[in-house]
Amino acid sequence: MDLFEYQARDLFAKHGVPVLAGEVIDTPEAAREATGRLGGRSVVKAQVKVGGRGKAGGVKLAATPDEAVARATDILGMDIKGHTVHKVMIAETAPEIAEEYYVSYLLDRANRTFLAMASVAGGMDIEEVAATTPEKLAKIPVDANEGVSAEKAREIVEAAQFPADVAEQVAEILVTLWKTFVAEDALLVEVNPLAKVADGRVIALDGKVSLDANAEFRQPEHEALEDKASANPLEAAAKAKGLNYVKLDGEVGIIGNGAGLVMSTLDVVAYAGEKHSGVKPANFLDIGGGASAEVMANGLEIILGDPDVKSVFVNVFGGITACDAVANGIVQALELLEAKGEAVTKPLVVRLDGNNAELGRQILADRNHPLVERVDTMDGAADKAAELAAK
Ligand SMILES: Nc1ncnc2c1ncn2[C@@H]1O[C@H](COP(=O)(O)OP(=O)(O)O)[C@@H](O)[C@H]1O
Ligand SMILES: [Mg+2]
Repeated sequence: MDLFEYQARDLFAKHGVPVLAGEVIDTPEAAREATGRLGGRSVVKAQVKVGGRGKAGGVKLAATPDEAVARATDILGMDIKGHTVHKVMIAETAPEIAEEYYVSYLLDRANRTFLAMASVAGGMDIEEVAATTPEKLAKIPVDANEGVSAEKAREIVEAAQFPADVAEQVAEILVTLWKTFVAEDALLVEVNPLAKVADGRVIALDGKVSLDANAEFRQPEHEALEDKASANPLEAAAKAKGLNYVKLDGEVGIIGNGAGLVMSTLDVVAYAGEKHSGVKPANFLDIGGGASAEVMANGLEIILGDPDVKSVFVNVFGGITACDAVANGIVQALELLEAKGEAVTKPLVVRLDGNNAELGRQILADRNHPLVERVDTMDGAADKAAELAAK
């Protein structure tokens, strides 16, 4: 889960990374009092989960509370790279900025380690620094067991060639930022810019944090950070039912058991769709290994409730849960939905393979539901589902 800047700021403050005061608001008028509380000056900052807000006009200085209201009026409702601004942060104005640096920690999946990145050429687009002047971006692996000690922090500071007058402060921030990264189960913490200001202090002026959803079970406070207002309603409903669902923008609803199978189902449907007016998968939904009729019914309910869906492809490979159990699950799911007054009106293409496939197919044949069609190969079923969706 990616956080807004103001949420990253709050986490930094909680763990002791130096930040400036700031509060989030969602009406222009609220900018007046918030700026008043900051001594009459502020920086009005668009809160959208995308970088480059400054360049896009989403970060503006306000010299008076009136100006803050005017800037908030400009910025609220603005579109930044496809993200509508619903909230702004009224931030304390940094003393004159002398230098802008970059620091981050992230999970480096390719190298199976954590990685510290640091640069004295921060502030701007760090991707550009990495592409055009890679020598200015230090990359130091961080061992998960060792973490970032004072000594490790000095190694990072030296590799990135921070000036001597800020070396100690930056090293201290690097240690604190690592503690934040670990304590919050983050996948990314990034500070850009980490600014040296006129009075010599080094402060985090912008923060980007991405939290690891797999750690939700031990991070009860993270739920409150979710942006429920802009969550997709289907995804929210699926989450409430404990389903592993991601909304996509196509027309073929997908249900499968096992993440790998569902991923490849998305591929074959997208491929088959090229022959059928370009239809695409409407979602990812993995109902997992031992899926009961109820889980199947929940999954079907979510997918059939998606107005974009024109057909559904149920792709099951029987393993520990055999195909006959899954077929019974499908039959019961259809009955459950009918009983709830949500009778199925969209065609279902079902492919069963693996453990007890024959028995499973027989169960569907016996039920003979007018909207359920069996196709025994994955490619054939994908093609049929795409063809039905294109009709
Ligand atoms: N509180 C602040 N006081 C003064 N200047 C700021 C403040 N916050 C940001 N800035 C300036 O605005 C620039 C862009 O802001 P930033 O928060 O990094 O947004 P983004 O990275 O999305 O463009 C920063 O590089 C910094 O120069
Ligand atoms: Mg920034």
